[in-house]
Amino acid sequence: MAFLVFEGLDGSGKSTLIKNLTNHLSNQQLTVTVTREPGGTTVGEELREMLLKKQEQPPCAKTELLIYEAIRAQHVEYKIKPALQSGAWVLCDRFTASSVAFQSGGREISMEETQWLNHFATSGLQPDFTVLLDIRYKDAQARMGNANRAEKDRIESEGAAFHNRVRDSYLQQAEGQKNWLVLDATQSEQTLTQQLIEALTAQGFLD
Ligand SMILES: Nc1ncnc2c1ncn2[C@@H]1O[C@H](COP(=O)(O)OP(=O)(O)OP(=O)(O)O)[C@@H](O)[C@H]1O
Ligand SMILES: [Mg+2]
Repeated sequence: MAFLVFEGLDGSGKSTLIKNLTNHLSNQQLTVTVTREPGGTTVGEELREMLLKKQEQPPCAKTELLIYEAIRAQHVEYKIKPALQSGAWVLCDRFTASSVAFQSGGREISMEETQWLNHFATSGLQPDFTVLLDIRYKDAQARMGNANRAEKDRIESEGAAFHNRVRDSYLQQAEGQKNWLVLDATQSEQTLTQQLIEALTAQGFLD
């Protein structure tokens, strides 16, 4: 059992890697819960709607952070903790590091305040291991294509400078941390899956 978090820019390949690791773990008869904020909680879903829709008076940076933290508190309480208690592996698409990257790095709220709110929302629950899919913003954008540009949500619509700060923040968070794995997300999905499995084995999560 382990609590794994997948981080990176939109289009970095989080969903793809989660799918491939889930297949690997399931083949080993391990129970896996795949989740992402708001994790199917009803309060969380409603809050997410408020966050992402484009509106005349959008949430300011502080409101945005507080809403993410409220979504997270609900997700931890009703989805992540119960799954971990049942002995499942939990693979979570984005978690506290996203708030540091987007709301502190991107929106420039202080690191200290963001970390305090992360701790408050999670009651101190931390991932056992965090995987960062590192990619340049323009490469991630190119990968997603221009087809659904009109459908970008409010945060995805931020420009290159914002997303470059987000990427830098992710790299800073990972620096020197033994329980973070930084992957070059431009490699093939097979290579990325293999590198992740090797790291999980080296860390003692897998035999
Ligand atoms: N290693 C890879 N090499 C090339 N293309 C990839 C790779 N991994 C994923 N892709 C492709 O890139 C696109 C984005 O991948 P994916 O949906 O997994 O990213 P994501 O991080 O989950 O994005 P989002 O944050 O928008 O959910 C998809 O079209 C996917 O097929
Ligand atoms: Mg995804």
